[in-house]
Amino acid sequence: MMTISVCIGSACHKRGSYAILNRFKALVEEKGVSDKVSVTPAFCFGECKNGVTVKVDDKLFLGMTEESAEDVFNRYVLPKLS
Ligand code: FES
Repeated sequence: MMTISVCIGSACHKRGSYAILNRFKALVEEKGVSDKVSVTPAFCFGECKNGVTVKVDDKLFLGMTEESAEDVFNRYVLPKLS
């Protein structure tokens, strides 16, 4: 199971991390991969100054937006599933 953890610590929350969390959840549903990928909220990763932080397994992605969430999903998450 791959895990996408989206920081909901206060700095990331203020920058819209819930929208990013929901975007990842919607992408997982759209692609029908909910049996392979879990999307979960997470606490501060210590990268608060760098925008919304997302961790995919052990890799951190900084400064995430809803658009880059889609990018990370298509370019990083999906290829690892096949
Ligand atoms: S609040 Fe998200 S990295 Fe600190």
